[in-house]
Amino acid sequence: MSKEKPMRKLTIAFLFPLMFFAFALSSLSAQAEKSDLVKPEKSLDLDTPVDCGECHKRIYEEWVGTMHAHSTPAKNPMVKAYYDFLLKENYDTSKCDKCHVPFRALYPEEKDKNAKLFMDGVSCLFCHSVHGKNSGDNQGIDYYKLDFFKPITGPTKTDKSAHDSKFLGLYKHVDICSGCHQSGEAEYYAEGKSKSLCQQCHMPSMRKVKSAKNGPVREKVYQHLFEGGHSPILLSMAAIIEGKAQKKDGKTILHLKLENLSLHRIPIGFPLRAIYVKVTALDENDNPIWSNYKEHPKNEDPKSYFALSYPEEEAVYVHFVKNIKPIKDTRLEAASIKKLSYDVSSDKIAAFQVKLFYRLLPESVQKKLNMDEAVAQETLMSEETITID
Ligand code: HEC
Ligand code: HEC
Ligand code: HEC
Ligand code: HEC
Ligand code: HEC
Repeated sequence: MSKEKPMRKLTIAFLFPLMFFAFALSSLSAQAEKSDLVKPEKSLDLDTPVDCGECHKRIYEEWVGTMHAHSTPAKNPMVKAYYDFLLKENYDTSKCDKCHVPFRALYPEEKDKNAKLFMDGVSCLFCHSVHGKNSGDNQGIDYYKLDFFKPITGPTKTDKSAHDSKFLGLYKHVDICSGCHQSGEAEYYAEGKSKSLCQQCHMPSMRKVKSAKNGPVREKVYQHLFEGGHSPILLSMAAIIEGKAQKKDGKTILHLKLENLSLHRIPIGFPLRAIYVKVTALDENDNPIWSNYKEHPKNEDPKSYFALSYPEEEAVYVHFVKNIKPIKDTRLEAASIKKLSYDVSSDKIAAFQVKLFYRLLPESVQKKLNMDEAVAQETLMSEETITID
């Protein structure tokens, strides 16, 4: 860490006692205003992920590829399309900033809307400056007690040679995530049906590596991968599909078993996600001769479509704009098994090809937002070929 660009004010404070006095004063005045938020006057005085990455290189490299680093309209075309659409309708998108651009929400008076920290989204310094949570049902930045002058918080008591740090129990709880993730991900945990933390699957641990290049080799560290609906790898682990097929009385019957391996409902999170099954019957030359849908599974084979359904013209507003109740909820419950069967009137079938797909956004909403098809293409979650017994 260079002394010209110290990582946080408290560290400078140790180096320059005079400045400490000034900062302690500014921190006190900030505290008098609102005790759950203590911040320097300008966002420029805060460290960016690149600064943290000087020493925490591996963690930086993990984080920079995540949706947390791409949560802002500047970095995420889907978020940008939403912001643009809502701005045209005179909606106040600073409400969205509370989770998507947390530092812009912390510095609403700053004019430079492209300041580095405003582009970075959910950055290192945001999570690691959390010192507790507020009571009530606040969202995003207002859910957390934030203090940018106190030592950085983390899950361990660490060596403090590089900077001061402090153990905080919240890192071993879902609440470090549920201030912003309020779409039911934490329900099973809250209801006691699951004891697994979000971190277990979204920040998997690794053994015997360093956490900082100038720190010791650690027994255990946590990968900052935050994989979700944008990650084909995580999606491939979210569910398994198995099947059996037999011929009977000139028909071919397929039985499928779909198991949710995640510890929450799937799809979860952003309410417009969908998971669906595509079944194609193949003849002995591998030519397709039947499928469960041609254009859209939701209309043609609703039992194979797992999602929340909303009135089509309202769907674009369901994520934090208007309180719209879904008409139907066909998502897969946590750790549940779903059975599907198909009766196809053909005895020419040699095998069924079964594909499980995930989609980030329905086509109808994509059209409404003027979005490129490529932004929310379907992702293949898994694929099976089931031959006839
Ligand atoms: C969304 C919140 C979040 C963001 C963003 C985040 N962290 Fe973390 N970080 C955590 C949590 C939660 C843990 C603890 C995980 C656990 O204990 O299971 C953690 C653990 C750590 C640790 C502990 C040791 C280790 O190696 O696992 C370090 C160091 C760390 N983070 C640094 C960083 C840096 C540097 C960045 C940015 C490049 C960053 N974090 C971004 C939430 C976050
Ligand atoms: C000059 C190098 C350096 C810089 C810059 C730096 N760190 Fe660290 N950090 C360290 C070292 C060394 C440790 C102790 C590592 C250990 O014990 O494994 C540490 C520990 C931590 C911990 C405690 C981990 C735990 O398990 O509780 C967190 C969290 C953390 N740093 C986050 C950050 C964040 C966020 C930034 C940027 C705002 C940052 N660090 C900048 C070197 C640095
Ligand atoms: C047992 C593993 C597991 C645990 C524990 C877990 N998840 Fe997940 N999570 C998954 C899998 C697998 C997926 C991919 C399926 C999907 O996106 O629906 C996923 C998807 C997600 C997504 C992506 C949603 C989207 O809109 O793209 C988010 C966000 C998420 N989880 C947050 C959480 C939070 C927050 C917690 C803790 C309250 C948590 N998860 C606990 C396995 C887990
Ligand atoms: C300051 C708010 C905030 C906090 C705290 C936070 N997240 Fe997020 N997270 C977001 C936002 C906003 C997105 C959506 C980014 C996007 O796609 O634009 C997101 C995306 C994700 C995704 C990826 C979803 C996808 O679509 O692929 C996962 C997984 C995730 N977060 C897990 C976590 C976990 C685990 C924690 C706690 C350790 C956490 N988040 C804490 C705001 C937050
Ligand atoms: C309380 C926090 C919160 C608020 C407020 C919020 N979001 Fe989100 N948003 C998230 C999280 C977290 C995700 C990731 C999926 C999930 O868990 O819901 C997300 C996902 C998204 C996505 C999907 C991005 C992707 O890459 O797939 C878009 C688009 C989006 N939000 C736009 C908005 C807009 C526009 C607003 C304001 C009307 C808004 N959000 C308000 C937390 C929030």
